[in-house]
Amino acid sequence: MSEARQRRAFALLGSTGSVGVSTLALVERFPERFRAVALAAGRNTAALAEQIRRHDPELVSVADEASARDLRARVPEFTGRILAGSEGPLAVATHPEAELVLSALVGALGLVPTLAAVRAGKHVALANKEVLVVAGELVTRAARECGVDLLPVDSEHNAIFQALRGQARDEVKRIVLTASGGPFLARSAAELATVTVAEALNHPTWKMGPKITIDSSTLMNKGLEVIEARWLFDVDADRIDVVIHPQSIVHSMVEYVDGSVLAQMAVPDMTIPIGYALAYPSRLPLDHLRPLDLPAAGTLTFVAPDRQRFPCLDLAYRALRAGGTMPAVLNAANEIAVERFLAEDLAYRDIPTLVAAVMDAHAPAPASDLDVLLAADAWARDAARSGSGRAERAAAR
Ligand SMILES: NC(=O)c1ccc[n+]([C@@H]2O[C@H](COP(=O)([O-])OP(=O)(O)OC[C@H]3O[C@@H](n4cnc5c(N)ncnc54)[C@H](OP(=O)(O)O)[C@@H]3O)[C@@H](O)[C@H]2O)c1
Repeated sequence: MSEARQRRAFALLGSTGSVGVSTLALVERFPERFRAVALAAGRNTAALAEQIRRHDPELVSVADEASARDLRARVPEFTGRILAGSEGPLAVATHPEAELVLSALVGALGLVPTLAAVRAGKHVALANKEVLVVAGELVTRAARECGVDLLPVDSEHNAIFQALRGQARDEVKRIVLTASGGPFLARSAAELATVTVAEALNHPTWKMGPKITIDSSTLMNKGLEVIEARWLFDVDADRIDVVIHPQSIVHSMVEYVDGSVLAQMAVPDMTIPIGYALAYPSRLPLDHLRPLDLPAAGTLTFVAPDRQRFPCLDLAYRALRAGGTMPAVLNAANEIAVERFLAEDLAYRDIPTLVAAVMDAHAPAPASDLDVLLAADAWARDAARSGSGRAERAAAR
């Protein structure tokens, strides 16, 4: 077989985002191992044009026609296809040559293309956690039926995936997700009331896209990860715990029935879980990364999360236990609350209040199919756009 044919061909949803850029940087280090055949981006045509020049994909997609026109002007020499609109990510996710799809769009908009990838028989490296929050049962069932792997890219789930490898699933007692705690770990409830957008975007250990950075600061990110873990590892809510570990060195742990706890540790760098998922079942020699130096790292600390100051965590547990369409409603309400906070249309402390109010107004239905979930998502977005958060909090007093 020629070298070109031995390379793993993959499609990348969200190529211009934080995970997407890290993925393509890794591919550039291992050009003999991987080939990006299709890229889906949003509106960052400057970054996508540069990716086209460096990776020469066969197909790219952008969010709308204006972005497509702009992209064509930037890369007149490109002979591949440029698609615009919602059909684009679908075509990227089902590109015939891709053996694997790295799903790194942000939010529920990644659900339909990711499900299409699974149904087209592609293995999925999953960064876009909202996919499993909205439709965990549907997507994991489809993956089982189609015989494809769901390979976690989220560093916590990737750590658990590694700690489960070669172990008997019926000997797992508990999963422990670690959380950095975000920038406001030491802030009082009163201080949280005055948080600004710039402060919330300043994560202490990870450099990520804006939505996940805000979610990390409210602990909603950890709540979404609890739901993601439930579906990826088939473990119910009562056996998933969260512990705050500000150094972000222990990426998560699995406790077994004999009391043994297996943890995965590494420097906080998304290259490691991305590389693990892309190269699975082998490991890549990532010699360019700074090695983990435990004496230099100093003390590793672990504390229980403060569920009063960070109510988003319990909102996610509540949604998971309610089941059906409730996790989709939690997610959609949170996406809108974060969008409004970033637009300075909602106070930071009103993010959980608004999400709770939308959940209170929802009677969950069975998550029987995609249409039911998408309708719940659309309903919750409307409710969160019109809710103030403040009024609901006052009414609740
Ligand atoms: N960042 C991390 O370290 C990290 C770690 C673990 C898990 N995750 C998860 O991975 C996912 C991606 O996170 P991220 O931090 O990489 O997000 P991000 O930096 O915000 O990137 C989001 C990507 O989605 C694209 N996009 C946004 N709206 C779109 C639209 N309407 N149509 C098509 N494409 C659109 C963006 O395109 P443009 O920029 O071109 O508009 C960009 O490529 C999230 O679910 C997050 O929770 C991220």
